[in-house]
Amino acid sequence: MASFLWDSACFYDLALKAEQKFKTLNSGSSKTLMRRSLPLHIGKRSQSVCFFAAAPRLPKDAIFALTAECRDDLSPVKVNLGQGSYHDENGFPWVLPAVCRARRRLARLDLDHEYLPILGLPEFRAAAAELVFGTESYAAIRPRIATCQSLSGTGSLHLAGPLIRNCSSLNRQVWISEPTWSNHHLVFSSLGCQVRAFRYYNPEAKALDMNSYLDALRSAEPKSIIILYACAHNPTGCDPTQDQWKEIGEIIKERQLFPLFDAAYLGFRPGNFNKDTFSIRYFVNNLGLEAAVAVSFTKNMGLYGERVGATIFGQVRRDCTELAKIAAQILRDPFLRKMWFEDLKTMSNRISLMRKTLYNLLVKNGAPGTWDHFVQQLGMLGFLGLTHDVVLTDQYHIYLADNSRISIAGLNESNVAYVARAITECLQAASPTEEMSALASHL
Ligand SMILES: Cc1ncc(COP(=O)(O)O)c(C=O)c1O
Repeated sequence: MASFLWDSACFYDLALKAEQKFKTLNSGSSKTLMRRSLPLHIGKRSQSVCFFAAAPRLPKDAIFALTAECRDDLSPVKVNLGQGSYHDENGFPWVLPAVCRARRRLARLDLDHEYLPILGLPEFRAAAAELVFGTESYAAIRPRIATCQSLSGTGSLHLAGPLIRNCSSLNRQVWISEPTWSNHHLVFSSLGCQVRAFRYYNPEAKALDMNSYLDALRSAEPKSIIILYACAHNPTGCDPTQDQWKEIGEIIKERQLFPLFDAAYLGFRPGNFNKDTFSIRYFVNNLGLEAAVAVSFTKNMGLYGERVGATIFGQVRRDCTELAKIAAQILRDPFLRKMWFEDLKTMSNRISLMRKTLYNLLVKNGAPGTWDHFVQQLGMLGFLGLTHDVVLTDQYHIYLADNSRISIAGLNESNVAYVARAITECLQAASPTEEMSALASHL
């Protein structure tokens, strides 16, 4: 199923490229030429067999659908807190200065478009692994690491998946936290793995449910795969402490489970890679565990449209050479790397400031409920913990995931007070006043 969608995307890409080419070559009748030139099943009136007519369709991605809805919303007060992408204090996408600098450098190098080695750009792969494991331990474990360039975090999980599924020393059971990023289920179930969910979050305590987490690990069959968030759990923002990670690691080792780290948000805890990679390094360096890491540079380098990442083992490849080169420039050059760490601080500090500001305003407004959980969470996302009956979109044009996860990067000085007021008003409208409750209790 996944590969069908992928193929359609490729055809669409090809179609666009072909159209552009024909437009340049034949001013005017580009449409007619296009139709004739494309594979028959793309043309609307084609009589040929359509092999994909009966293909099962995937549901729309909820967050992308929400973003499209928000784009079409003409309200001047609309706020998009749905998509987890960084925006600056004016609400604009931010091209990281380190990325701009690396891009300019590359432009001067007059690069060719030669094939990369099958596993991707060697210097990028090495630098990504070094960043994850730390310079010292990377030097020590380097001969035992296999890294493959990937299409960002999603592609990286797709690389890890088939390898895991076909590996006879692992069973096909994949344990995934509940809640989680919805694609975890899609990726692994579409690969034929048996997906098992475990309760990660305690909604009453608005915190990580460590007991249930450990119980799940103890009950998992040996050789099962556990998907772990290296940091900044999506959507809850609740991560284990370092001591809790140690406990988790011990059980994983004892039960002979295989940890697959999703590392999509490295660097978002005010610019600190050592803390964000603690779990990976502890498992591999201290416990001597084998592990896989799906690394993404989408969020932390702001390369949302291009998708750069690495699987620390894998197989497939698509040509994202230029972006891998940008990432490699940044990771390998001490000046650019320092600059990037500053960029990460810019992003994570603004996110922390907005998290705190929203919290302060909710408390000041007297928004019903407690909000401490919100400032205890980590990363780019905030898990408000609102119930489904709180509808912010229809009335206030505020877009957020159904599970009340917000992208804090969508907040800024101009809209945070509005969002806080909207949440407060929605909650006040949803929760009965004391008099109403008293009245109800007499009925
Ligand atoms: C937990 C998690 N993993 C992976 C990804 C995928 O990121 P990418 O854009 O790098 O594919 C996301 C994106 O939102 C995510 O939240």
